[in-house]
Amino acid sequence: MPARLFLSSGDLMADRRYEFARDLQLKGDLAAAADLLEQAVELAPNFASAWFTLGKIRRQLGERKAAVAAFHRARAADPDDHHGATLHLMQLGAEEISAMPSAYVKALFDHYAPRFEVALVGDLGYRGPALLFKAVLLVHAAAKKPAYFSRAIDLGCGTGLAAFAFAKNVDRFIGIDLSPRMIEKARATALYAQLEVDDLLQGLRGRPETSAELILAADAMVYVADLAPVLVEAQRVLTAGGLFAFTTETHDGDGVIIGEGLRYAHGAEYVRVCVARAGLKLAHLDNSSARNEENVPAPGLVVVAIKA
Ligand SMILES: C[S@@+](CC[C@H](N)C(=O)[O-])C[C@H]1O[C@@H](n2cnc3c(N)ncnc32)[C@H](O)[C@@H]1O
Repeated sequence: MPARLFLSSGDLMADRRYEFARDLQLKGDLAAAADLLEQAVELAPNFASAWFTLGKIRRQLGERKAAVAAFHRARAADPDDHHGATLHLMQLGAEEISAMPSAYVKALFDHYAPRFEVALVGDLGYRGPALLFKAVLLVHAAAKKPAYFSRAIDLGCGTGLAAFAFAKNVDRFIGIDLSPRMIEKARATALYAQLEVDDLLQGLRGRPETSAELILAADAMVYVADLAPVLVEAQRVLTAGGLFAFTTETHDGDGVIIGEGLRYAHGAEYVRVCVARAGLKLAHLDNSSARNEENVPAPGLVVVAIKA
């Protein structure tokens, strides 16, 4: 994943201490790195990057209470939470599961964009778009319908890998993504008739009723805690017989958790309930992994919901 985000404190001495601390952290001297970070935040009490790094180091040292306190300070210093302190607080059980800060997602993928495809497809064996394509073909074959869609929306479109997989089966693609740099990459593919920098739920809310035959979300719902409002909007935007096809990561229990990789995992039963409550019909739910984590397939679901 991308190199660590750095937001200067505006105090040269504090920034220097932070840099030394990072060197020590990389060399494995966590206690010395924590000492230097404590000095940095004494000099610059609103130094979000230092508080965040301190939180991570306290976590590595097994000092949960101090880690929680540092992550709280990181977020207080930067309420938009570019570093994603909220995700660590959720992982530590210090907070309920809630939405991912959009500033964090944007910073993450803006940074990731130049090497996204090499890292995800090459290093992590990413196969989300191919899985969605296969699932959509299966659903349409079972209904004896040609898998052709005049209007489609790609939620969390990234660099355009899903549009590429569906290019021959879709006439007009709209792509929506929070990250301007990912959108730039998507624009360069010329696969999209329209691209919007927006949150995927807000973007869907801006679409007219019954205006798409297909909605895709390939490896994007893993950044969305609550699937329910997205499914409700998808139901509104789809035409009768239209499909919403998405991948997500999953876990054996129920509900939504945040995994080690700082992405959400949705239980299969939770997905079933959200689909039904949105007034959609589950046409396909398959245990298939869209990417590897530590060289092992991350447990995942491929879901196709249909508007009856
Ligand atoms: C792992 S990438 C997948 C990109 C693409 N769908 C693919 O299959 O290659 C996840 C993308 O979702 C976007 N994303 C995450 N949360 C989002 C949100 N709430 N609204 C819009 N885009 C979001 C990210 O910016 C990123 O480009």
